[in-house]
Amino acid sequence: MIKTNTKNINNLPIAFFDSGVGGLTVFEKLKKILPNETYLYYGDTKNMPYGEKTETQLIEFADKIFHFFEQKQVKAVVMACNTTSAITYDKLKNNYNFRIYPIIQSVSKVIAQQDIKRIGVFATPATINSHAYSKEIKKYNNDTEIFEIACPEWVKIVENNKLNQPESFEKIKEKIKEMEIHTPEKIILGCTHYPFLLGTLKQFLPENKFIDPAIEFSKFIKDDLQTNNLLSDNKTEGTEKFYVSSSPENFKTSGSLFYKIDGMPVLVSL
Ligand code: DGL
Repeated sequence: MIKTNTKNINNLPIAFFDSGVGGLTVFEKLKKILPNETYLYYGDTKNMPYGEKTETQLIEFADKIFHFFEQKQVKAVVMACNTTSAITYDKLKNNYNFRIYPIIQSVSKVIAQQDIKRIGVFATPATINSHAYSKEIKKYNNDTEIFEIACPEWVKIVENNKLNQPESFEKIKEKIKEMEIHTPEKIILGCTHYPFLLGTLKQFLPENKFIDPAIEFSKFIKDDLQTNNLLSDNKTEGTEKFYVSSSPENFKTSGSLFYKIDGMPVLVSL
């Protein structure tokens, strides 16, 4: 349990986690709108890609990371990973003493309210097989047709820094063609790694065709912290600390497209 008085809770860190650099697409946005917060980020690079893991494995990874954050005394945890939000959130949400923000469940209402008739979703195999976006959006708007396509190769393109290689271009093109058959009005980038690929995606479809959930997600987190009087009262920019379960150098290099990390992430294998 957090053993501090209410005032101190406000200045405890906000923690992020993802399988790797993907969560930086959310972190970068929240940091921009809440610069004075203190942040921790855990990239579980040893167990990446999450999208090909079983429910049991994903629950085990998330639980270990949550316990790590419990030791660090955080006020909130951002599940900046669609896969863990889809597969583990419902199972784990009541087990810890901090607020937990799952990306899919936090953004689906706003997406549903945009009244888009045909929505595509690109995501990891695990997220697609769970139909989490479909189920969540349909809770708020049952008239939407949703077309879900798994892109198993895309996370590794980002993590292995292969953004500009011809075979990566072909892998992306193949999925775009598959999606275009359904003529979606908008396409959700349902994995936090995918906004790293926007440079390539834009070569096929206009940028405004893609929904990056990180934009609404960061606003949702800020609003919720504000509503619950949990914002920090720091007057200056807060600190940030990055942890990874393997390859700190690789995390720093691959992540730099979205966020320049000062120093080297700390290696912590859980
Ligand atoms: N970036 C994560 C997501 O949003 C996980 C990607 C992976 O490791 O497969 O789903």
